[in-house]
Amino acid sequence: MRKVLIIGIGPGNADYLTIQAIEALNRADVFVIPDKGEEKADLRRLRLEICDRYIKDENYRLVEFKTPPRSKDPANYKRNVEDWHARIERDYQRLLAENVGEDECVGFLAWGDPTLYDSTLRIIEKIRARGVVAFDYEVIPGISSIQALAARHRIPLNRVGGSVRITTGRKLAEERSIGAETVAVMLDGEQSFRKIDDADVDIYWGAYVGTPDEILVSGRLADVAGEIELKRARARQEKGWMMDAYLLRAPGET
Ligand SMILES: C[S@@+](CC[C@H](N)C(=O)[O-])C[C@H]1O[C@@H](n2cnc3c(N)ncnc32)[C@H](O)[C@@H]1O
Repeated sequence: MRKVLIIGIGPGNADYLTIQAIEALNRADVFVIPDKGEEKADLRRLRLEICDRYIKDENYRLVEFKTPPRSKDPANYKRNVEDWHARIERDYQRLLAENVGEDECVGFLAWGDPTLYDSTLRIIEKIRARGVVAFDYEVIPGISSIQALAARHRIPLNRVGGSVRITTGRKLAEERSIGAETVAVMLDGEQSFRKIDDADVDIYWGAYVGTPDEILVSGRLADVAGEIELKRARARQEKGWMMDAYLLRAPGET
């Protein structure tokens, strides 16, 4: 039976791969390489570098997958994501049927960890449940961007006995407050930290964490927000794309 391996590759550095991920890479006959357009060429390059560096037998195949465009209309966010996933689902199903032999193994290289803000698992499970193409799948965890961010800032993610909430920039902008928790914010194209009401919050921000272009800024939000905005805008313009995340928490012992 076909085998699908959803392999966490860490958030941007080939050194982040686990031994389990390397073993999984060496089991696959074919890899799906997403093509998300020119500005994500760097991400594509890293996936290819990972294959090149860790796979011993060079006879593996690559299948380019053109990620369909997604409507950014904020009024219909949920609906847009559902439509987008449905299109990817249809394309993946066709890809599995046409590019992966019945006894072959295909690897999807998931950025960071595949269980965190990544819909590959949802999509693959839907295709499996439909039963048009028969396959089994395994999930190999990876280092998430949030773990890498905390490590690079040399802070524990939670306070002693405390909780951590992982959310998106969009949600943070709606809620405007972090309360007593540590909040990890991902997928924030709008610098939503500017919209929160808590006056004294600390921020630990990182862009391109783990890569040679990494930028880290930390401090009292009110003091460093301007610096983050400036560095973010500059880097985005220079590289053509941005990937950043941050932790927010009330001041006190880390
Ligand atoms: C679609 S989510 C994928 C998350 C990924 N599965 C993970 O485990 O980190 C993409 C978001 O992850 C965060 N991210 C991923 N890689 C990052 C990096 N190297 N540095 C900073 N943030 C990163 C950003 O918030 C980005 O918008």
